[in-house]
Amino acid sequence: MIHIRPDNFQLPEALSTDAARVDDLYMFVYWFSVIFTVAITGTMLYFVWRYRRRPGHTAEPVTHNTTLEVAWTVIPIFFVMALFHLGFKEYAHEALAAENSIEIGVRGQQWSWTFTYPNGKQDASEVTIPINRPVKFVISSQDVLHSFYVPGARLKKDAVPGMYSSIAFTPNTIGDMQIFCAEYCGKDHSGMLAKIHVVAEKDYEDFLKKGDRMDGEPLDAYGARLYKKNACYTCHTIDGSKGNGPTWKGMYGKPVTLQTGETITADDNYVHESILKPQAKIVQGFTNVQMPPFTLNDEQISGIIAYMKTLK
Ligand code: CUA
Repeated sequence: MIHIRPDNFQLPEALSTDAARVDDLYMFVYWFSVIFTVAITGTMLYFVWRYRRRPGHTAEPVTHNTTLEVAWTVIPIFFVMALFHLGFKEYAHEALAAENSIEIGVRGQQWSWTFTYPNGKQDASEVTIPINRPVKFVISSQDVLHSFYVPGARLKKDAVPGMYSSIAFTPNTIGDMQIFCAEYCGKDHSGMLAKIHVVAEKDYEDFLKKGDRMDGEPLDAYGARLYKKNACYTCHTIDGSKGNGPTWKGMYGKPVTLQTGETITADDNYVHESILKPQAKIVQGFTNVQMPPFTLNDEQISGIIAYMKTLK
C-alpha cells in the first residue's frame, strides 16, 4: 500500500501496529476520494463553460452511447470492489485474534469498565498490557448498550448485554491509551472512561502477581482510590447529597431502614454483602435503582469500609 501519512493529519497518534495499517487505508481512501472529486467536478465545470449557450451555436442532443455507458458502470465497479477488499481485509485482521493472544475480559456497566486478566485478577477503569504481544479484548455488558472505543488503536466495538464480541491488536508503544464509551448509555456516559497502560513484558508479569494496593498505602486511602476507580461516585455521594444510591456520608455504623421495613446496622458484613450482592438488602427509597454487583476481593472491600468510616 502507498504510504502517504503525514503524522497527526486528522488522526490521533497511532499506538499499535494495527493502527498504522488502518491509517494507511484511511489515507488511501482519503486521497482516492480527493482525486476523483477534483477530476469529476473539474470536468463538469469545464463542460458547463465549454458548452454554454452562445449565439450561432445550436444544441445537438445525444440520445445514448452504449460504449460509454458500459464503461462508466463497469470501471467504478472495479474501484468499489478494490476498496471493499482493502477494508474487509483490515476488518478481518482486527476481528481475528492471533493464536498466542492474551485474552482479557472487558465488562461495561453504568458507568465504568472492568477488566479481567487470564489469571482471574480484576481491575476497574484501567488495564495493563505488555508491549508487542497481541491482545484480544472480549467485550460484554452488565446492563445497557455501551461501546468500547480506543482511538489510539483505531478500535471500536459495541458492548452488548447478553453477548460477547471481541477485538484484537498489538500495542507497539509504551505509554497510555485512552478508552471512551462511544454509545450513549445514560447520565454519566461521558464519564465512562478508562486507560490502557502499555508496559514492558517484565512489568506486566510483575503486575499480574501483585494486588492493586500500593506499597504502604493506608487502607482508607486505598478505599478512596477504589471509590474513584470503580466510579462508585456516580451513585453514592460522600457529602450527604442525594444520588441514585444512599450517600456514604455518615452511613457506616449507623442504623439503616430497608425497603422491608426492617432496620439493620451498616456494618462490615452489610457493606461486604451490598458490594457483592447489591440486591440482597435494599435501603428504603432506593427500590427502583439496580446497582450492578462488583467483584472486589476482601482486601478491596476492607479498603472501601475503611474509607466509609472516615466519612462521618
Ligand atoms: Cu457506556 Cu456510554
